[in-house]
Amino acid sequence: MFIFNSSIGKKFIQAVSGAFLIIFMLLHSTINFFSVIDSFLGKFGVAAADEAIFSKGDGLFKLGCDFMSTPFISIMVPILALGFLIHIAYGCWLTWQNIRARGGWKRYEVSSKAAADSWSAKNMFVLGIVVLGLIFFHLTHFWAKMQLPEMFGIGNFENNPYLLLEATFGHWWVLALYLVWFAALWFHMVHGFWSMFQTVGWNGQTWFKRVKVIGIIVATLICLMLSATAVNAFVQANFVV
Ligand code: HEM
Repeated sequence: MFIFNSSIGKKFIQAVSGAFLIIFMLLHSTINFFSVIDSFLGKFGVAAADEAIFSKGDGLFKLGCDFMSTPFISIMVPILALGFLIHIAYGCWLTWQNIRARGGWKRYEVSSKAAADSWSAKNMFVLGIVVLGLIFFHLTHFWAKMQLPEMFGIGNFENNPYLLLEATFGHWWVLALYLVWFAALWFHMVHGFWSMFQTVGWNGQTWFKRVKVIGIIVATLICLMLSATAVNAFVQANFVV
């Protein structure tokens, strides 16, 4: 079958699952960024103790987290997990195929613009490993204290997500690790974005340049919102009483 046999077919799966993950990241980083807006509105930390969703007066970030636990999004969670798994499995497979085709773990030696393209093109696998490794670390901070108790009754549920933000980013070394993670994610998404359009055939001269710029804008927006969330939570935890 085309999808599994041709190299474009495999990259197509990688592109579609990648696009899905970028959409998730846009939603996720926007909701997280709500916590920064909350700080300016004096609502950072405001979460009603009633454990109901969408309580009146709650901060925007808390409302966003409530949205993430509505049935529609809960249905999406297994699909999201599947998207991640497919993307990771195919990423490893594509890397392995490339290593075999080149006769070993070596970098491109071609000087053509497309092949030698950028630093991140050659390091997608390594960047992917960094991004993935830190996702597990990240899930222990939030998902394990929100969704896991809610969905499966495992562990203690934390109703106030602002406390989790402070508990996580209150430590400078965790903040630093997350910032390194966002940087790796930035390179991974920038390359992934244009590679995705190249795979689906949008590689004419004019559009190729535009797509590259759009990719940089989208990745930068996501990473800036995430970094602002993390730095703001660090400040809230350490300097705001
Ligand atoms: C400032 C940075 C971040 C914060 C504050 C944050 C916060 C959260 C929170 C509160 C949850 C629990 C569910 C929810 O409300 O969405 C969560 C889950 C999750 N996060 Fe993050 N996140 C950050 C960055 C990232 C990044 C960079 C990735 C991926 C590369 C990521 C991937 C996930 C995944 C896969 C889940 C589980 C799915 C879900 O429950 O929606 N997060 N995160």
